[in-house]
Amino acid sequence: MATATARDLATFKQRVDEVVHRHPVVVVNDYTRWFAAGDASTGDVRHLTVQFSVFSHLFVEAQLRKVINAESLESYRAGKEILMNELGVVFNRARAEGGTSDDALDPELVATEGTVDGGRFRFGAAHFEWLLRFAKPLGLEFGELGKRRHGTPSTLFFCDELMRLYGSEDPSTAEGASYAVEHWAAAGFWKELIAGLESFKSKECADLPLAFWTWHDKVEDQHAAHTDDELVEVYGEPWFDEERFLAGAADMLDGVKAFWDGLWRDKQQGVTR
Ligand SMILES: [Fe+2]
Repeated sequence: MATATARDLATFKQRVDEVVHRHPVVVVNDYTRWFAAGDASTGDVRHLTVQFSVFSHLFVEAQLRKVINAESLESYRAGKEILMNELGVVFNRARAEGGTSDDALDPELVATEGTVDGGRFRFGAAHFEWLLRFAKPLGLEFGELGKRRHGTPSTLFFCDELMRLYGSEDPSTAEGASYAVEHWAAAGFWKELIAGLESFKSKECADLPLAFWTWHDKVEDQHAAHTDDELVEVYGEPWFDEERFLAGAADMLDGVKAFWDGLWRDKQQGVTR
């Protein structure tokens, strides 16, 4: 990379970090902060589970769209890694010696690194199926989870923004949204949810499997590092547009914020399931 471009990238990276790291949803998330304290009721956890299931299921649609709209074979494949893994192709790297094939179904044991190329598809390894197993002890069945009709307006706003921005046909917008999503996800909301769920589990629901949440927490740091590398790569591309990248990132985080603010409003208004 030419020195001038490297300097431009460093300046741009500062602007990106300001947008992402100063966004209200990254700075303070009232819902997850409250949830982490461990005072959620069964109804609160059920409501979170249903809304989260809608987001994580419809995310698959946005991920497919991102793949279809990919600007290069490399980013097409990077998107496919996430898409196929989400659907149940286990990363092709054994995590422990002596594991059995059923380990592939348990997110506690499933690899968080590697590639889906040559990996095995298992129905039970789909992230949505992990969430179904989490939801079962809460009394939530397949038909109550993951469908658009189960989403509140703020959840659906978030899902629609994912389709519009993360799956955008404009590569700068899509890259900005992707960068924002991964950096938000790596900023700690999984850990806050896990803290609250561990407390709920010990008080109310001993057989609640938390691996859906812990697996995602483990994987996030790599995703964020990956989008950092990706920014370096795409920055020099002729199609790259700084302003559209920043707008994609900012709008995407507004969508994320709408999701959590919706849950927080529901909490305060006593909306549970
Ligand atoms: Fe997932």
